[in-house]
Amino acid sequence: MDRHIALALLLVLCAGIAGAETLGTVSSPGNVLSVSVTVNDEGRPGYSISRGGREIVSESRLGFWLTDAPKLERNFRGDGVQTRSVDETWEQPWGERRYVRDRYNELRVRLVEKNPPQRALTVVFRAFDDGVGFRYEFPDQPQLRNMNIGEELTEFAIADAGTAWWIPGGEWNRYEYLYRRTALGEVAQAHTPLTIRTDAGLHIAIHEAALVDYSGMWLRRVDGTRLKAVLSPASQGAKVKRTAPFSTPWRVLLIAENAGALYMASDLILNLNEPNKLGDVSWFKPSKYIGIWWGMHLGTWSWASGPQHGATTAHTRSYIDFAAKNGFRGVLVEGWNVGWDGDWFANGETFSFTQPYPDFDLEGLAEYAKSKGVHLVGHHETSANIAHYEQQLAAGLDLYQRLGIDSVKTGYVADAGGVKALGDDGQIHFEWHDGQVMSRHHLKVVTEAAKRHIAVVAHEPIKDTGLRRTYPNWVSREGARGMEYNAWGNPPNPPEHEANLVFTRMLGGPFDFTPGVLSLKGKGGQPFQSTLAKQLANYIILYAPLQMAADLPENYRRYPAPFQFIKDVPTDWEQTLVPNGEVGDYATIVRKDRNSGDWYLGSVTDENARTLQVKLDFLDPGRVYRAQIYRDGANADWRAHPFAIAIERREVRRGDTLQLKLAPGGGQAIRFQLVPG
Ligand code: NOJ
Ligand code: CA
Repeated sequence: MDRHIALALLLVLCAGIAGAETLGTVSSPGNVLSVSVTVNDEGRPGYSISRGGREIVSESRLGFWLTDAPKLERNFRGDGVQTRSVDETWEQPWGERRYVRDRYNELRVRLVEKNPPQRALTVVFRAFDDGVGFRYEFPDQPQLRNMNIGEELTEFAIADAGTAWWIPGGEWNRYEYLYRRTALGEVAQAHTPLTIRTDAGLHIAIHEAALVDYSGMWLRRVDGTRLKAVLSPASQGAKVKRTAPFSTPWRVLLIAENAGALYMASDLILNLNEPNKLGDVSWFKPSKYIGIWWGMHLGTWSWASGPQHGATTAHTRSYIDFAAKNGFRGVLVEGWNVGWDGDWFANGETFSFTQPYPDFDLEGLAEYAKSKGVHLVGHHETSANIAHYEQQLAAGLDLYQRLGIDSVKTGYVADAGGVKALGDDGQIHFEWHDGQVMSRHHLKVVTEAAKRHIAVVAHEPIKDTGLRRTYPNWVSREGARGMEYNAWGNPPNPPEHEANLVFTRMLGGPFDFTPGVLSLKGKGGQPFQSTLAKQLANYIILYAPLQMAADLPENYRRYPAPFQFIKDVPTDWEQTLVPNGEVGDYATIVRKDRNSGDWYLGSVTDENARTLQVKLDFLDPGRVYRAQIYRDGANADWRAHPFAIAIERREVRRGDTLQLKLAPGGGQAIRFQLVPG
């Protein structure tokens, strides 16, 4: 080719790219972020995001691969835009804060194919000052009614290099991996939330909101710092099967100056979910519970029947007594029902959700609990056999409702890809924990439970995408490495674990981590990588409205002074703030109790000792607080002196500054008790 022609061609091509047509732009209410939606010269839709005039997400593709129709990716033209602004404040029935402000500018761009069959879709962007949400809406149209989505082609082309914190997506252990910290350019395939700190210091977390009747989104790095959506698989045909009209879940980017602001930005995920569909949910009581649980993880008790059976009438009575004496509303009992004998991981079809083991007097214990002001917490381990569970779901929940059991912990123990579900063909198929089938299943359980005024805490769940706003009885879930890994994990949770969780997993919502093991030893005496004070700090750091005190009662009796903090700490908050934090290094969170004027502080560090200054500018002005401080002792260290704790009291007021001295693997917890007056 003649050099000049080649050059001319190149120029035309460049002009084509540079000349991508902008269909619409929208800025956030405070002009912090701005989003542009474009189609390029091939009619391929895309978007980009800038912050303070600097591009932070470069042109990123939008679209779908369909299994039974041509891709929705090219040959589009814009067919009109609409904008609107919203600034509302809504009240949470329970949560990290009572009032949430929902303030954004919205841009809707309708896209239509230039050629027949001229399929149409709308992309909707919401620009907040601390993030962006967008989704696809498919209108009712004869040429695209039954949608079989083979893959979503959405990209997130992060403009700058940076560091990423992530766990692998699509691996056997679901979400229960240690967080890895790599260059953004070394991410492989990750779950969301995936958190990034760019080299310029900007914090970005990618996640999704309102994952309803759709497959969960993983992120795979295409090249450089460009990530793309990968939908969790389905056993049969397309990954997602829907009938138009419908909307996809929201794709979310939280974008903030620092780690603390990133945590605060996660309200945006709730804002992108629909309002409460359940009406008055005051029947759900945020509270703490103990359980016949840690003994099984230590191996001293068993779920199965026999001489070591944990869920006996006698054990449960003594747990109820302990709960009543120490102010815990709930007592969880695992292993109460027939089905745990043999290899329960594999035998989900043997579980009964109504038949207790003979040595567990369910009815009598529910009565006994009630007489003491305590409620049993139900347990439905399914071993991920949802075909079997769904047959008994109504009966299992009816039983709980009749007995006044108003919360249930569900469980889906099985390797990823090991969910047994009944297909449309009447056959059992193997599904993923975060595929479309499970997104439907969880909502079925949650809505059936809601009808009976029962709250749900799911283990081995699908990830949290803020659906607690719409279904406030879906109060918490697992979906990360919890306390149980300190019993039998190889390795146990490392000192940095909580400082990772705060800025990754916790962005999604409450976590049933099951904190508070003061004995600091797992199975066979395996030591925790934590100090005692950090076990207390976790009650503030890892939010859950139903919060466990996971240790054995006899261990709490051995540590009455630190146990006092676990008895005092509330689980429902008026306000939450993050005075400081760095992803994976440390975090300090303060929360105001919803039912008193008290504030609480939790601070955790990784394997490094550090001293953090916290200015008490969150306390009410003119008031005096009695600070009850639970800090690492002078020589505390998770390796050598994990039990060293100092407990002291002093009076503080707004404007004072506290020095938090955190030991390696350590933490600190404080109750700021409002002095009347
Ligand atoms: C795994 C859960 O995370 C744990 O809390 C529970 O004890 C077991 N499954 C048994 O259901
Ligand atoms: Ca688990």
